[in-house]
Amino acid sequence: MALRNILTKEDKSLYKVCRPVVKFDARLHQLLDDMADTLIKANGVGLAAPQVGILRRAVLVIETNVEEGEDEVILELINPELVETSGEQVGAEGCLSVPGEYGIVRRPDHAVVKAQDRNGEWFEYAGDGLTARCICHELEHLDGHLFTEKCERMLTHEEIYGTEGGEE
Ligand code: CO
Repeated sequence: MALRNILTKEDKSLYKVCRPVVKFDARLHQLLDDMADTLIKANGVGLAAPQVGILRRAVLVIETNVEEGEDEVILELINPELVETSGEQVGAEGCLSVPGEYGIVRRPDHAVVKAQDRNGEWFEYAGDGLTARCICHELEHLDGHLFTEKCERMLTHEEIYGTEGGEE
């Protein structure tokens, strides 16, 4: 396992359409393991392969809606496709490739995704709230899109960090 470098918005790789994963081999497993390490180290909730320079359709999403006391689960979604979305949420969103910037993005509140696991088996997964937001965000990375394209507005410095100063 190893950390990979997270590309930032200046990098052309983030604007390309990624190709499907066709080999479910040790090399893919290594990529997914490295991405998990990288995601956890960066304190993110999701990471797409193009963010580490690999133009293949693979993403990780941390499922945060777990029972109290249980570990968070890292979902591996290979060749994912949205099969259903419903509801709506409007909230702040960020991206490890756009450090320090946050914006208001409207997203479905429920998303069902069909994907392959690391061994090529197809499955369906339904996510709500932050997980639904994250699934939509990560899948867009695979088609070369960043959340900043969808922002209704960006948050100001004060909204992100609060006002400077305060009590002496
Ligand atoms: Co992102």
